[in-house]
Amino acid sequence: MTTTQTVRVGLEDRSYDIRVGPGLIAGAGNEIRPLIRGRKAFVVTDSTVSGYWLDPLTRSLDAAGIAVTTIVVPPGESSKSFADFEHVCCRMLEDGADRRSAVIALGGGVVGDLAGYCAASVMRGLDFIQIPTTLLAQVDSSVGGKTGINTPQGKNLVGAFYQPKLVLADTGTLATLPKREVLAGYAEIVKYGLIRDAAFFEWLEQNGADLIAGDEAVRISAVVDSCKAKAAVVTADEREAGLRELLNFGHTFAHALEAAAGFDGTLLHGEAVSVGMIQALELSRRLGHCAGQDTERARSHLAAMGLKVRVADIPGSARWKAEALLASMRRDKKARDGSIRFVLARGIGDAFSSDDVAPDTVRGMLQEDLSTAASV
Ligand code: NAD
Ligand code: GLY
Repeated sequence: MTTTQTVRVGLEDRSYDIRVGPGLIAGAGNEIRPLIRGRKAFVVTDSTVSGYWLDPLTRSLDAAGIAVTTIVVPPGESSKSFADFEHVCCRMLEDGADRRSAVIALGGGVVGDLAGYCAASVMRGLDFIQIPTTLLAQVDSSVGGKTGINTPQGKNLVGAFYQPKLVLADTGTLATLPKREVLAGYAEIVKYGLIRDAAFFEWLEQNGADLIAGDEAVRISAVVDSCKAKAAVVTADEREAGLRELLNFGHTFAHALEAAAGFDGTLLHGEAVSVGMIQALELSRRLGHCAGQDTERARSHLAAMGLKVRVADIPGSARWKAEALLASMRRDKKARDGSIRFVLARGIGDAFSSDDVAPDTVRGMLQEDLSTAASV
């Protein structure tokens, strides 16, 4: 029998539980009701997730005496926009939001980031609940309170830190998730091994294929361990003064790649993270921090699972220029006074932040990778 497991995020008066297991949506109303101030909730979801998981959630909220208004956005990264932020906030206000209303995000990281930013903004802060339905959202984006939207200048450049009151990671929802999305989420799981936990990376080498194939016990174990890893970092450094930067391993590259790809679905966030982590390891190798065999080990695991590991693997990358990717990286939130800050690694499980990286080294590495795209 599978039982629900709980991971606590300890943040004083903003502490909350992450509940992990199958079937949690059916009992969501009773879990949520004691945690919110009022009896009215806005469920924000996308038009794909709503077809699978909205009815059982609505039934459960109704049964618990919570009145539901549903706001549906289009699926995909393009919904993390000013236009959708405005649409969702205005819908809440038109439909009678008051200070005691709650916002429930039902969906992946896109819905969670957008709904969370709306929850942080409407009436200067409504109670917020995360019900993540992608692997990526269950292991990463629903935990830790980062919310926000993209702008034409890049990813996640407008937003707020705003913690949820509860995360319900119903692993049963992963049954309807396409394999490509499962793989994208898997990249963020591998990240925890690469940054701080070599033993977890080794466990993933042994169990990753079963996880991707749908083994429920392996999935629950990986979600719980990922949430524990993220909770430990967030508890120590909620606002990213230092340690939390490590969670951005591979992301300086990934965000630039996503911006170049244009947020149109050709490159998923987790796919970009997979490529970005290998770039970060390769950069670490070139700078003399990391042994080549560690870079190769990570590359071969991600590739064996079916993830992209080269910029050249990304559709459309033959048209990209290293200089433009570098310019995009300079707009990364970690950049300081125009110099790019990278998360590097001394080996698997041992990441650190550095702003001592010559742009020429990064440019050369990107040019080498991109030159193979031009020839395919
Ligand atoms: P997503 O929200 O776009 O979901 C991926 C796709 O899967 C969508 O088409 C969605 O409709 C569909 N989907 C979701 N759940 C489903 C289900 N159970 N069954 C069938 N289809 C389902 O993408 P994502 O990968 O979950 O999240 C990516 C976003 O998360 C990015 O914008 C990224 O920047 C953000 N992110 C945020 C944080 C954070 O800390 N806030 C961390 C990592 C990533
Ligand atoms: N996903 C990066 C963070 O939450 O800090």
